[in-house]
Amino acid sequence: MKLFKKAADIRDFIAARKKERGKIGFVPTMGALHEGHLSLVRQAREAGELVVCSIFVNPIQFNDQDDFEKYPSTLEQDINQLEQAGCDIVFMPAIPEIYPNGYRHPHVYPLGYLETVLEGKYRPGHFQGVCMVVERLLTVIDPAHIYLGQKDFQQCLVIRELIRLIGSKAETVICPTIREKDGLAMSSRNLRLNIAERSMAARIYETLEFIRAGIRTGYLQDLKERARQYLTAAGFRVDYVEIADADTLELQEEWDGRKPLVILVAAFLHEVRLIDNMLI
Ligand code: PAJ
Repeated sequence: MKLFKKAADIRDFIAARKKERGKIGFVPTMGALHEGHLSLVRQAREAGELVVCSIFVNPIQFNDQDDFEKYPSTLEQDINQLEQAGCDIVFMPAIPEIYPNGYRHPHVYPLGYLETVLEGKYRPGHFQGVCMVVERLLTVIDPAHIYLGQKDFQQCLVIRELIRLIGSKAETVICPTIREKDGLAMSSRNLRLNIAERSMAARIYETLEFIRAGIRTGYLQDLKERARQYLTAAGFRVDYVEIADADTLELQEEWDGRKPLVILVAAFLHEVRLIDNMLI
């Protein structure tokens, strides 16, 4: 496995290797890797691509400075895990490699509706920051496929839209959410939960299951409200419990029994904000 810190070096190396090994599969991450991240690497590997993984904690996508400063870093372990998972190339740039001209947005990405709901609404500016880093990474790595986790469902739609906006030829591959035994979606943020919070956190998955099992055609308001109350009673501070069109993310008040839906939840357990979703 090759490690790079400089954008120019990885670009040259990839250009040379591409001629021999064909397509590049790219897995962007912010490190503190777990099985969720590694499953993306394995999927790219199984597709027979030259696998590139980036580790970069992107300062401009954090709304909360504290969240950025407390973002876990486990670099040595990350590198070992990537090697075992079959990653070929790791890109670990320092901030100036990604933002040589500083953090100033050269322009605003016109993400439209996608940026006004759910994570877009509760984390203003977050998706602009995601787009800036992903555009830069796509330019450096120039992959055929970018592997993303369904765990961050709205991010997948945003990156798909970014790719369309910038005219990149990369295709998104959305991979299933990897969960702990009790259903909690794996996340680097789980490391910040204490023992009591960690056992409570499984309620988010239970809430998704509750909605999936209870959903009927007709109005959805009552079901959403009961789910929200379940989380609130368990001590969560709920940002949203929503049911949306799985293609457009338009929030749904009613269901015809046929349209593909996604249930999405975001809630705080004290300081830690957790998100999860489930397709119907
Ligand atoms: P990060 O949170 O490190 O996640 C990197 C990738 O791993 C994302 O595509 C995410 O959806 C996926 N992932 C996280 N947890 C997962 C799980 N339990 N199962 C499956 N996939 C999972 O998302 C980001 O970083 C950043 O926003 C990034 C795209 C790297 C841009 O900075």
